[in-house]
Amino acid sequence: MSHLLVVRDLVKRFGGLVATDHVNFDVIPGEVHAIIGPNGAGKTTLISQLAGELHPDGGAIEFEGQDISRASVPARALLGLGRSYQISQIFRDFSALENVMLAVQSHAGHSFEFMAPVATDAALVAPAQAALDLVGLGSRAQVPVAAMAHGEHRQLELAMTLAGNPKVLLLDEPMAGMSLKESEEMIALLKSLKGKYGIILVEHDMDAVFALADRISVLVYGRIIVTDVPDAIRNNRDVKDAYLGDGEALA
Ligand SMILES: Nc1ncnc2c1ncn2[C@@H]1O[C@H](COP(=O)(O)OP(=O)(O)OP(=O)(O)O)[C@@H](O)[C@H]1O
Ligand SMILES: [Mg+2]
Repeated sequence: MSHLLVVRDLVKRFGGLVATDHVNFDVIPGEVHAIIGPNGAGKTTLISQLAGELHPDGGAIEFEGQDISRASVPARALLGLGRSYQISQIFRDFSALENVMLAVQSHAGHSFEFMAPVATDAALVAPAQAALDLVGLGSRAQVPVAAMAHGEHRQLELAMTLAGNPKVLLLDEPMAGMSLKESEEMIALLKSLKGKYGIILVEHDMDAVFALADRISVLVYGRIIVTDVPDAIRNNRDVKDAYLGDGEALA
């Protein structure tokens, strides 16, 4: 089976701190590969290197067999690495549809300067509406972002990411700050996307991780201590000691 993404011996240092310590990691087509680990383990640092926002000090990142270690953020996005948009990148006075249209346009390589024409550009409407439909916001297309609930903002971020036609989704804590009901909806949404994309899921919500992951890698102090299927991770003594404590997180 050919891999979508392969990370070899990746190293990132912040001064004396080794935030990514010789990490080996891969994603196969259609799988959800979760990364779990304590606060400060280096999960976000790893995602940022995959997206190209941070440059590694050593090792390599390959996407569909191509070395992308030195590729820019936009170049990686065009190849198919989709990092989740943050709400801070969303225009709150614009409708959900207009925001996704901007994401479609920006992925197509146009400039944000042409914001007025974009609102009337029919070519952007269809893919934007399709992305909204995919995340369950189809009927909310015309609602201004400012009037939407927090959970809907997170769905919108995902729609904007999907608008770029990614092959791998890089999701850093998609359930953060969500109510129980909102996270259940997000889990259902990600389940519906499962198999269509490779998904790297960084998440502290163990219900979400165990509901979604095909494989789980456990990161501790910058090192992956184990990669395995969920049942094996659940019963792994080192994982319990390092992260899951007495196992209560899995109760
Ligand atoms: N730009 C930076 N400069 C210096 N140190 C950094 C920088 N970014 C992260 N670090 C440090 O690197 C380590 C890993 O941080 P990172 O944010 O990747 O952890 P994380 O696993 O995402 O944690 P959390 O679960 O809290 O989100 C931490 O010790 C952090 O303080
Ligand atoms: Mg983080």
